[in-house]
Amino acid sequence: MSSRDTSDGTTASGSTTSPLRPPSDRVPCNKTGVCSRSYFVVVMVFFHVYIINVIALLFYVHYNNGQEDASLDAPSRNPQRTEARPPPSKPAPLRDVSLTRIEGIRVGHVQKVSLVPSKVHEMRTLSLKPLLFEIPGFLSEDECRVVMQLAQLKGLMESQLMVQEGQEELAKELNLSPEEIFNLLDINQDGQLQLHEILTHSRVRDGIWLTPENLREIYAGLKADKDGNDLLSLEEFKLLSNDAFQRFLLQRGLKRSQLVRNSKHTWLYQGKGAHQVLQDIKARVTRLTRLPPALVDLSEPLQVVRYEEGGHYHGHHDSGPVYPETACTHTRLAANTSAPFETSCRYITVLFYLNSVEGGGETAFPVADNRTYDEVSLIQNNVDLLDTRRNCDKSNLKVKPSKGTAVFWYNYLSDGKGWVGEQDEYALHGGCVVTRGTKWVANKWINIDPDYQRQARYQQLVSQQAEDEDDEGFPLNPDQHASDTHQEL
Ligand code: OGA
Ligand code: CA
Ligand code: FE2
Repeated sequence: MSSRDTSDGTTASGSTTSPLRPPSDRVPCNKTGVCSRSYFVVVMVFFHVYIINVIALLFYVHYNNGQEDASLDAPSRNPQRTEARPPPSKPAPLRDVSLTRIEGIRVGHVQKVSLVPSKVHEMRTLSLKPLLFEIPGFLSEDECRVVMQLAQLKGLMESQLMVQEGQEELAKELNLSPEEIFNLLDINQDGQLQLHEILTHSRVRDGIWLTPENLREIYAGLKADKDGNDLLSLEEFKLLSNDAFQRFLLQRGLKRSQLVRNSKHTWLYQGKGAHQVLQDIKARVTRLTRLPPALVDLSEPLQVVRYEEGGHYHGHHDSGPVYPETACTHTRLAANTSAPFETSCRYITVLFYLNSVEGGGETAFPVADNRTYDEVSLIQNNVDLLDTRRNCDKSNLKVKPSKGTAVFWYNYLSDGKGWVGEQDEYALHGGCVVTRGTKWVANKWINIDPDYQRQARYQQLVSQQAEDEDDEGFPLNPDQHASDTHQEL
């Protein structure tokens, strides 16, 4: 009834002709019959408005759910498909696509998803930071077998070479002095190089996974850390030549287990002409992620990975951070800048387990749902959370490989406006060492440029080329194009 009081008051105070009287002065209601009828009318009006509101709310909820189901059941009717490929003659429209982001609700929440006609899948939320889901039975046993066989037929290559090329030239080209290099490495800017500062550098530069013990051994071998306090001063650092570490390691002989990644992989194209199973997987991923099909079509092929016993993949991000001077690998054709850095822009990772591993091989998310993220504390007191050969047991979350299960997560946050935002640091993950048997997984990455205009330009360019090439009967969707050279798959 407080609302009535307010409106009465407004009317009274709004009336300038009759001055406001104290309540006791108000005209007394002596016609009780009239009074009770008006009271009845007001109550009835209030009651009806209330009922109408409830009915409207029910309609709203029902209608909204219906829409969600419809878009899930029929992704091919998604109007975003045409929007995502604007006609080449028109300039790229500003933000006419809003990317769906699946809600996690809470850890352990299970939602039903319709991905194939004959079955309803259950999708469980594993973490909110990163937004991570698990879908058992995403692939059938037969599909897992076909994917592994196709990969074997094509042949798998080492995922990482023993020594990465080109790094030395880059350092020379940049022409940095020892002081400048020292400054770059000194992340916390305390004028000394801590073990973890050198370790991070060596992993990124050489792809060699040193442990703190390895590093101490190297310091001893090169007589670098004279005072033996695990810290390098600028003077101590200057005594080391640029590639002293690399040469030292090569002399000692490097094992595959000392690399960032110890696995083999190959790529399987999923466009027209590819094996039906590969095309089906792509279509299912589109339904799962509820993204415009064009975005999935233009993404990287399927990566199939095999780890032998003893194989691993240390902690990493599938995508790079977003800096103004960074360009995405997949849209570099459309980037009219000569960005000095290039990185993979993988909005989503869908990881499929193609077999159940006998021992180890979990996918670890060391900082999933951590309250805070502190990069420096990842390597501290000889505990390196990124080291999946040693410290998977200290990871916040581990997913056990189970044949046919898919997990998927977002490597970027939303920008709050329907597009890709900042990198999600919590999406850090790795493959724990396989202690028994082999492990087969596949990755489907969905590439989206955080720079909307660049993504739009890229798609415009590709659709333009596809049209041109169509006239000659030769499509140039990178996926489809590549499948022409891999007809056997
Ligand atoms: C990858 C990856 C995890 C795993 O291939 O990028 O993170 O469990 N794999 O193999
Ligand atoms: Ca330092
Ligand atoms: Fe990964």
